[in-house]
Amino acid sequence: MADASAEKKLILSGIQPTGTFTLGNYIGAVRNWGPLQDEYRCLYFIADQHAITVKIEPAELRKKTLEAYAQLLACGIDLNKSLVFIQSHVPTHSQLMWVLNCSTQFGELSRMTQFKDKSRKHPDDINAGLFDYPVLMAADILIYQADMVPVGVDQMQHLELARNIANRFNGRYGETLKVPEGYIPPIGAKVMSLQDPTKKMSKSDTNPNAVILILDDKDTIIRKFKRAVTDSDTEIAFKEGKDGINNLLTIYSAVSGKTIEESVKEFEGQGYGTFKMAVGEAVADHLAPVREEYARLIQDKAYLKECYTRCAGEALKMSYRTLNKVYKKVGFVPTELR
Ligand code: AMP
Ligand code: TRP
Repeated sequence: MADASAEKKLILSGIQPTGTFTLGNYIGAVRNWGPLQDEYRCLYFIADQHAITVKIEPAELRKKTLEAYAQLLACGIDLNKSLVFIQSHVPTHSQLMWVLNCSTQFGELSRMTQFKDKSRKHPDDINAGLFDYPVLMAADILIYQADMVPVGVDQMQHLELARNIANRFNGRYGETLKVPEGYIPPIGAKVMSLQDPTKKMSKSDTNPNAVILILDDKDTIIRKFKRAVTDSDTEIAFKEGKDGINNLLTIYSAVSGKTIEESVKEFEGQGYGTFKMAVGEAVADHLAPVREEYARLIQDKAYLKECYTRCAGEALKMSYRTLNKVYKKVGFVPTELR
């Protein structure tokens, strides 16, 4: 990386390889990552270690990790500017996690909404990893001394925890870890399900009509939007109680670059059917180049391997700086081995 990048602020974010990215992942997170690359030094990774907190077949995880990697690149992340790597290739994250575990309280982890949701969804497998997941996320962030973490609204609680852990560690051992800021996108921080607009759009939704995947073809995208749940009213307006329409307006604004007000104006007086069609068209056209680039990249496994190997090597080097400092602060005997 160029020397000038040393003065730039550092951005870090991750995404789980639990399936094709949804329009929620895209609008709330990934598509904002590309434009940040010029102003910041960026590190992005596929959180495969987070993915095994719920049951997933090994072959499937391997496949989805590579697919997620290719999707990130297809969404406009440029490897000449950013590092994109796979979490399990950089062992220092989990090494730091152990130390941070000892600065994290059982009580605060018990309060995490995602833990409570996932425990309810998988009552037969409430494993320690699921409970400890936010500490690994804190380690992902703190190991690089990240300044800013772009995420959707659902991850803010985890980010707040990472800040608390950093502050607690610094309080106990002296200034060591940078306390990161969150970065929430101005539009689309929470994209809702097309079938139940009071719930977030999620990769794990069992109803395929609820979720737009970034690799869906145009016909599929339009069909799903046509079936989107709205309300019994007829007015296209952004208002409380109109969750379905609000969501469609948010999505339309996010892909068209227009403000919500401009979008409302554009569809004034039109029927829901026409509006849904227009949103579907706009999303499909917006995603077409991503789908094409992905199809090209996923064929080229050798290129992908070269990229994730180089990036993990650079990330590992960066991360040792923090790990060594932390190990020293807590009183581990130094070794020449790192
Ligand atoms: P995950 O799929 O849980 O790995 O999420 C990856 C990123 O996408 C995180 O930054 C989430 O906050 C974001 N994200 C996930 N679902 C949505 C959604 N429905 N709306 C907005 N952002 C989302
Ligand atoms: N937990 C995040 C999610 O499910 C993914 C993630 C893991 C992450 N480590 C991170 C996001 C570090 C930002 C920073 O969406």
